Amino acid sequence: MKLVVIAMPGNERLADQLADHLALERVAAIVRRFPDGESHVRVEASIEERHALIVCTLDRPDDKLVPLLLLSCAVREAGARSVGLVAPYLAYMRQDTRFKPGETISARHIGAWISRHVDWLVTVDPHLHRIADLSQVYSIPSRIVPAADSVARWVRSQVRQPLLIGPDEESAQWVGAVAQRANAPFIVLTKHRRGDRDVEVSVPDVERWQSHTPVLVDDIVSTARTMIETVGHLRRAGLAAPVCVAVHAVFAQTAFEDLRVAGATDIVSCDTIEHPSNRIALAPAIAASVRELLP
Ligand code: R5P
Repeated sequence: MKLVVIAMPGNERLADQLADHLALERVAAIVRRFPDGESHVRVEASIEERHALIVCTLDRPDDKLVPLLLLSCAVREAGARSVGLVAPYLAYMRQDTRFKPGETISARHIGAWISRHVDWLVTVDPHLHRIADLSQVYSIPSRIVPAADSVARWVRSQVRQPLLIGPDEESAQWVGAVAQRANAPFIVLTKHRRGDRDVEVSVPDVERWQSHTPVLVDDIVSTARTMIETVGHLRRAGLAAPVCVAVHAVFAQTAFEDLRVAGATDIVSCDTIEHPSNRIALAPAIAASVRELLP
């Protein structure tokens, strides 16, 4: 019997692609709000004794988590033998420490909640910084899809003489991997974040890279302040207008337009969160990781 894939609203495209790659049956579910704002979920097919996976990327997570967890309960109660989750963007991973007294380490709680409701997880480059390994916060089997191969392929084919730039120490892991695969040089900058939108980036001596095209690579672009600061420094140092590449295009409020106005010549992202900047497709890589976890 075919395995089934269920899309949370907004995740239909990836669910269809996974169904094609893995010969899964797409099953419909109702996920909507009652007039009072509570969530109503309902699986609309017979899935008894079948293995199921739910696709739900977790940007803007507070609106998605309650219906997602309820849907996983509904899938189980409808008799599914197992429930997996494909969440290309994994929320709350940046809340990985108690930055100030009185805070909580949200990544641990969100990880525990999700782990209680699904049997396995596939995600793309989660923000692993002070948490070194996903298994420290997710107690279920998981696979991480690295975006580096796909990003490097895009850079190689689209950018003339690239210089890869990571805007902070945390980005060194991605930018190093992309640079190696794209056979390009890379540098990593230093960042101090003083607040949500108050970021300072120090750029070393970059004059010798005048003949290169700067390519900023970061895992998450949210307010875009990190990239905007970096673009400004590079332009003042006389480098060409940079290309900005995000694995996860969160782009809060006006961030996308702000980054464009700041002087990015091109803004490109992987398709882990649907956004007009999506140009790097990850469905085949995600499907390969899902295949490893399917029963
Ligand atoms: C750091 O934690 C991440 O790797 C990104 O650099 C960060 O999320 C970017 O955030 P923003 O776009 O708000 O500057």
